[in-house]
Amino acid sequence: MLVKQDVAYDRPLEPSFDSNGPKHVAIIMDGNGRWAQARGRPRLYGHHAGARRVREMVENCPRLGIRYLTIFAFSTENWKRTQTEVTGLMDLFRRYITHEMRALNDNNVKVLFVGDRVRLDPKLVALMAELEALTTNNNGVHLTIALNYGGRDEVARATRKLAEDVASNRLDPQDVDETTLARYLDTNILPDPDLVIRTSGEARISNFLLWQSAYSEYEFIDTLWPDFSVDELERLCRSFFFRKRRFGGAIA
Ligand code: IPE
Ligand code: IPE
Ligand code: MG
Repeated sequence: MLVKQDVAYDRPLEPSFDSNGPKHVAIIMDGNGRWAQARGRPRLYGHHAGARRVREMVENCPRLGIRYLTIFAFSTENWKRTQTEVTGLMDLFRRYITHEMRALNDNNVKVLFVGDRVRLDPKLVALMAELEALTTNNNGVHLTIALNYGGRDEVARATRKLAEDVASNRLDPQDVDETTLARYLDTNILPDPDLVIRTSGEARISNFLLWQSAYSEYEFIDTLWPDFSVDELERLCRSFFFRKRRFGGAIA
């Protein structure tokens, strides 16, 4: 279980792991459909199994030193799927939020949704806002759920807002730099991800956190998302510890 106090983890963090492990882990949770197909079941069966994996990941974040967990639930391109799958996924998101709301809050998790809400069902949007409002003052794990999210769409929406501010003289074009633009992104309160994990063997980013992952470390693993375990997350966090991040600097 997550605990209210940031430091009271069920197992002490190794000092080196605590200081050098990824603080922000972002996951492209892929492979639900193939997982279901391998069992002769409909794709939605895989999505339900996938959704059940999330709680355990969130619960183990404090122990692994992960302060921010961001998960890709539905992309701006996923509307291309059959109506049955899209409707089933939207129902799943509604049920997930309704069922998890209390436990997330009790566990001091702060939830944020990123992505464009305009195309989503108003009932779902209301639930998302309710969960965000309920958990807004929590200071435990910061869970960000990317729903109807696309990196290009996010940058386009940010640019539109920025252009509106320029047009109404609230922003001087001379002041537009990377920091200013980042403030208009959905992720404006988050640090950039340190580690991006994609399950299911695909080595692509599929429009996820394009701006924010400029210097993220990547892990592409074969496991299908419903089979992904906390042990595997821990292994990836540990191997992150041995990576040498240079951010463009010279090798020391
Ligand atoms: C990821 O699993 C979940 C969503 C994109 C909503 P997929 O549904 O993409 O599963 P595969 O890639 O078809 O196996
Ligand atoms: C990325 O997976 C989106 C999510 C995990 C929500 P996709 O399955 O949609 O990506 P592609 O189509 O294989 O690139
Ligand atoms: Mg997929």
